[in-house]
Amino acid sequence: MRLKFLPSFVKRKGRITKKQLTSLNHLRNYSVSNIEDIVADSAKYKKCILEIGFGNAENLISQALTNSEFLYVGSEVYMSGIGTLISNLREQKILNVRIFPNDIRQLLDQESSEVFDFIYIICPDPWPKDRHHKRRLIDSNFLKMLNKFMKKNAQLYISTDWENYAESILSSINENNLFIKLDDKYTSVVTQSKFERRGQEEGRKIFKFNYEKIS
Ligand SMILES: C[S@@+](CC[C@H](N)C(=O)[O-])C[C@H]1O[C@@H](n2cnc3c(N)ncnc32)[C@H](O)[C@@H]1O
Repeated sequence: MRLKFLPSFVKRKGRITKKQLTSLNHLRNYSVSNIEDIVADSAKYKKCILEIGFGNAENLISQALTNSEFLYVGSEVYMSGIGTLISNLREQKILNVRIFPNDIRQLLDQESSEVFDFIYIICPDPWPKDRHHKRRLIDSNFLKMLNKFMKKNAQLYISTDWENYAESILSSINENNLFIKLDDKYTSVVTQSKFERRGQEEGRKIFKFNYEKIS
């Protein structure tokens, strides 16, 4: 069967710990499977924020703890990351997080609804080899998909430690005229993620994109 979307993630064999596995038994208490669930749940909150590819969920957990009046939706395909997030949600009694445990494009392929006030994509898989560039999550089409689910003036934060990916993200943003660059003083506070930290420790610059939806 032909896949609608080429996988943008690396298939990991990494083992799942016992704790992560136990936590995954509680996934149904947190998971959302469609945009209607998110619209309904977000009605009780001031803002609704999406993080795509949350990894170990450092940013998601710290944001959710700081802003209990906002609803956070995290999307990830990596089961050990989802397990880590759920154990943190349970241990710290965090109630304002929902999980879309799948390729985000399966959500964004549904009928759209302007629900998100903010979207984070922190260090998407870089796919550095030329022949793999087609697997990169962020391109002009993907930005159009995101845009349809964002409220007017909603913000978008993307970071990458790969210069070549940064160049292609910038040209995709400029190509479709759907976003405008935010003034530095309005840029978002993001908890440094594992991949941002690793990039920096290995001497790479972190390229950050702070944009706002204009149409
Ligand atoms: C390089 S890691 C970065 C993780 C984390 N954001 C960080 O900075 O530490 C990229 C993450 O994005 C996830 N990912 C890739 N494509 C995705 C997609 N289409 N939908 C949801 N998550 C995706 C991967 O599973 C992986 O955990």
